[in-house]
Amino acid sequence: MKKYKSKYLDGKQYYSWEYDEHTNFKHRLLACYLGAWFPILSSRFDLNYFDGFAGCGSYFRDDNEYPGSPIIAVNAWKDRGTRGKKLNIIAIDQDSDVCDNLQKVFDENKHSSVEYIIQNSAFDAGILQLLENASYSTIRPSFFFVDPFGINLDFKTLEEILKYSKVEILLTFMYDGVSRCIGAESGRLDSFLGTEEWRELKDLHGIIRQDSIMDMFRNQLKQHAQYVWPYKVHSSKADRTLYYLVHISNHLKGASIMRDCFSSINHGRIEYLGKSNNQLSIFELKGFKVSEVQNYLLRNCTGFEGSYNDLLSLIIDATPYQNQVLRKAVKQFEKSGRAIVQRVTSKQTGIDKDDLVKLV
Ligand SMILES: C[S@@+](CC[C@H](N)C(=O)[O-])C[C@H]1O[C@@H](n2cnc3c(N)ncnc32)[C@H](O)[C@@H]1O
Repeated sequence: MKKYKSKYLDGKQYYSWEYDEHTNFKHRLLACYLGAWFPILSSRFDLNYFDGFAGCGSYFRDDNEYPGSPIIAVNAWKDRGTRGKKLNIIAIDQDSDVCDNLQKVFDENKHSSVEYIIQNSAFDAGILQLLENASYSTIRPSFFFVDPFGINLDFKTLEEILKYSKVEILLTFMYDGVSRCIGAESGRLDSFLGTEEWRELKDLHGIIRQDSIMDMFRNQLKQHAQYVWPYKVHSSKADRTLYYLVHISNHLKGASIMRDCFSSINHGRIEYLGKSNNQLSIFELKGFKVSEVQNYLLRNCTGFEGSYNDLLSLIIDATPYQNQVLRKAVKQFEKSGRAIVQRVTSKQTGIDKDDLVKLV
């Protein structure tokens, strides 16, 4: 188990863990996404935020404090700009000392429309127990942040979560841990990946093995959710994958917002490498040009006829492109006669949602 360097910052009753660059990166993505997700959904629903490997709630760098993931959720909720709905924050951690610390951090971050629940248990058992409780499972849309250090969770638990319709998951997938287990032929991987197929890939090496494992895992998840995208996070020092942040959702808007968030915070080298069925292999998420998207559309989508959202859905699921670049590409195609657009949602020159698009 990873040992954290911790200290008590001046005036605090709780300790904080040392903040590293990659936790910060994860946190910026989470803050960006919840900053969009909460305002959209809380206009109509009470919500749940589950934090599966919640941590101690606080970090330090020098003498400054930074919020842990459950507090990032509290802050995003406070800033959401709408009122009147409620949020459950359900934090699970198997370490009782960590849970005690988190309780103290929660006590300093109270908000009248947030209910704080701390569950001191292992993720798999804790989540299954909570999901049996109808108040968490039936009505509310729920976001799950599942942030283990290694492979200490069961694929079956993800399957259980994904049985509910209004859920989405952001999962930290530590490729290093997986890679080590493949070498050791550990049976633990069967339950983590939800399949024994990885055994067929164990003789592959390097990036080919990594891509193949991620493709396999993505396919496993695709049996339960429409949009699954593993965002790859490289080490900034060595050319090696640190982890993937896998976003699992059934909602086009959510998948598209996550893409925008990832792209907006992407200062390092972050990419997805995969053998997708469209033959593209390496994507840099930064700076896609409209012409690149147009080339993709010409190669793969000529003859497409359907709503703009149908086209966006194809693009979000199979490529790393963003909505705004796709829209520009289709607009330019319309001007040059390669696209015919019949406006349903948009007025005049816009292109969105139900507008009908034909690529000729
Ligand atoms: C990476 S830290 C979490 C960081 C936190 N999500 C954040 O971003 O601020 C991992 C946490 O998971 C807890 N943990 C480890 N194994 C666990 C398990 N099987 N179930 C629940 N919690 C676990 C550890 O005690 C630790 O606090």
